[in-house]
Amino acid sequence: MSILYRSDAARGRTWADIFAAEAPDLPFRVWPDIGDLAAVEYLIAWQPPAEFLRSLPNLQVLFSIGAGVDQIGLAQVPDGITVVRMVEPGIVSGMVEFAAMAVLALHRDVIDYQLAQRAAAWRPMDVVPAAKRRVGVMGLGVLGQAVLGALAPFGFILSGWSRTPKRLPGVACYSGPDGLDAFLGKCDILVCLLPLTAATRRILDLRLLSQLPRGASLVNLSRGGHLDQNALLEALDSGRLSAAILDVCEPEPLPAGHPFWQHPRILLTPHVAAVTRPETAARVVLENIRRHRRGEPLRDVVDRAAGY
Ligand code: NDP
Ligand code: OXD
Repeated sequence: MSILYRSDAARGRTWADIFAAEAPDLPFRVWPDIGDLAAVEYLIAWQPPAEFLRSLPNLQVLFSIGAGVDQIGLAQVPDGITVVRMVEPGIVSGMVEFAAMAVLALHRDVIDYQLAQRAAAWRPMDVVPAAKRRVGVMGLGVLGQAVLGALAPFGFILSGWSRTPKRLPGVACYSGPDGLDAFLGKCDILVCLLPLTAATRRILDLRLLSQLPRGASLVNLSRGGHLDQNALLEALDSGRLSAAILDVCEPEPLPAGHPFWQHPRILLTPHVAAVTRPETAARVVLENIRRHRRGEPLRDVVDRAAGY
């Protein structure tokens, strides 16, 4: 039996050190030191090639290095292999920090002030109290709920949207296609934290952006595939939207000359909102492997039919 880590090699060494110290009974290998392919029962990877997955005859569990699993291509994963996504404290705290930064920056008009500064213009804008600012989060899973929890103390008016109905204290919850427009109408700042699935690809399109209050802003922290890029440009250039903070795009990185690079009302970051932290993630995966070996149910298993 072996556990194979196939992702960033430098981080892999931290994983290997933790497994060596805390699970010396479990052989842990870091790509490209793969050993006997037939021994690999657990694979930890971000984007494993389909042919590589097929070359592992005894693979039982594929652990995604990320919280999202769209990059894996679930259809390529042979039947019978359990896919587990990453739910670990490092990702959650990173996302909470980044989302709070983005929401506060938009709430306090940072994009406009940056434009004013470039124009050497001293141009104070009305300060809107948080209690009058409506912030909505699409996706009420691990990350969406953590972000809402972190925003609550500022006093924002909070709402959220998910596939199945939810009840969260202090958050107006909407669900399903029927709840979407009512939710959007309440979002001065819209944060996308949905998984990328067949049902959510290009969900941030012109129709959706048009349902937001005039002058609203967008924060996309999930995947570039959620966004219709032309729709965003049209919404920004017409003034329907005032700004966007995008941590993800499609493709990553964007090609040279892409209009997002220079757009004055877009702040781009290179998919860094939340990065899996080896020190915490390795222990979460180790505990899940222990469960599997004891015959207990795994945590954070992906529903292949739903795609997340
Ligand atoms: P979860 O699986 O915990 O939550 C997903 C949420 O989205 C759930 O509330 C789910 O609804 C909802 N949802 C899924 N499909 C739909 C749909 N069709 N309509 C409405 N709601 C839907 O995921 P996480 O919170 O852990 O992560 C979310 C995403 O964040 C990841 O998939 C990844 O893409 C992204 N991410 C980005 C990072 C970055 O650095 N930029 C880092 C980490 C993650 P329900 O509750 O009903 O199931
Ligand atoms: C993730 C990511 O899904 O890093 O964890 O985007």
